[in-house]
Order: sequence, then structure tokens, then C-alpha cells
Amino acid sequence: MGLPPFIIVAIDGGAASGKSSSSKILADRFNLLHVDTGSFYRHITYELLRRSVTHTDHAALLAVLPELKFSTRLHGRSAQMLIDGQPAAGEIRGRHVNDHVSHYAAIPEVRQALLAYQRGQVAVAKQHGFRGLVMEGRDIGSVIFPDAGFRFFLHADPGERVRRRESEGHNDSIAERDRLDSSRKTSPLTCPAGAIDIDTTHLTLAQVVEKMAASIAVKSD
Ligand code: DC
Repeated sequence: MGLPPFIIVAIDGGAASGKSSSSKILADRFNLLHVDTGSFYRHITYELLRRSVTHTDHAALLAVLPELKFSTRLHGRSAQMLIDGQPAAGEIRGRHVNDHVSHYAAIPEVRQALLAYQRGQVAVAKQHGFRGLVMEGRDIGSVIFPDAGFRFFLHADPGERVRRRESEGHNDSIAERDRLDSSRKTSPLTCPAGAIDIDTTHLTLAQVVEKMAASIAVKSD
């Protein structure tokens, strides 16, 4: 008897659309590695700011990016990115990174630097005995894993998303980040053709998870 098929669940959506909470629950339920690619963009932003490499200094970016060595360690079921063997030395969800991350994420070379690393999470998941992975971001179903077995796109009204971020204790410029993430030329935030589009505005977290889990269970049993 062969191994059961490895499952890839792609979840895309804007800031505070419900991606993180729902993907963590799905990871628990289906024994998947949870991969938050926003945290990768946040860590790289933190590192570039630490090295005083601004997003407008193209020459410095091209010099530094190849030097950064990415690896992964597990934090529970979640993949944590290390740069040169280290986690970020400071806050990656605070104001400083929030204000800069979309600018770095719009740069094709930054995205290219993370591409193979993100796809390499399949090997990490297999190595640790997970049944698959659930990866959340902006371009997972469109660019990173366009052939993923399950692709979801979450969205919610802006007011509701601000309320969610505030209830998590975060002050985030959601509308501005979404504007930058959606309007960039490389891998913009968009609902990929064929993905299941879910409006989470009036749904509880449990309802969002049930919608996704139902389609995963039907197709993967
Ligand atoms: O999911 P998040 O809000 O933590 O993501 C932080 C930023 O990273 C977001 O503003 C855009 C960028 N990002 C991206 O461009 N592509 C991804 N796959 C994930 C995040």
C-alpha cells in the first residue's frame, strides 16, 4: 500500500482576513505543517531594516539578499524561518515592520529570494511526518503552489478587519498595506482562478474553518 497523498492547502487573503487563525486550526485538525509566509516577509523586512538596507536602495538589496541563508525550525506545528540560523531578534508584528513590509514585499528580487524556500516547506513537512501543509499568504494559490489540491481566498470588510486587529492588540495600517499588496506588479494579492472565495465578514472563525474543512475532508478521504 502506498503512502496517502500529501495535501497542500493554500490560503490567501488580505491583512486580518482570518487566514492565520483558520490555518492553525486546519493544521491541528488534519496534521499539517502550518506555514505563515507573511512572517517570512516580516522577518526579511526586519533583517533588511536592521542592516539599514532601504527598499529604494536596489544595489544594496541585490548585494545583501544572496547572503541571507534561510532555514526552518518547528515552533509547535508552525514553521519558523531562521535567517543565518537565528529567529528575528525583535518584534516582527509591531509598527516598524508593519509600515515597511509591503514595500519590501513588492520588490521582485525579495519575492524571488523567498520562492524556493517557501516551496521547500514541503520537504520540511515530509521530514517531520506531517500529512501535508497549510500555507497562508498573498500569492500561495497563484504563484507558490498553483496546483495545490485546496486553494482558498478569504476576504472581509475593511471595518471588520480593523476591529479584529485591534482586538488582537495590534495597530496596523491594513487599508494601506492591502492597497500596496494588491497594486504591485509582481504577484499581487488576488483571488486566483479556481480558488474557493470566502467572505468572512459575518462568519465566526468556527464557520470559516468548517467551510474549508468540509471541502478538504470530502476530497482527501
Ligand atoms: O500576512 P501578513 O499581514 O503578516 O503579511 C505581511 C506582509 O507580507 C503583507 O503586507 C504582504 C506581504 N506578503 C506577501 O507579499 N506575500 C505573501 N505570500 C505573504 C505576505
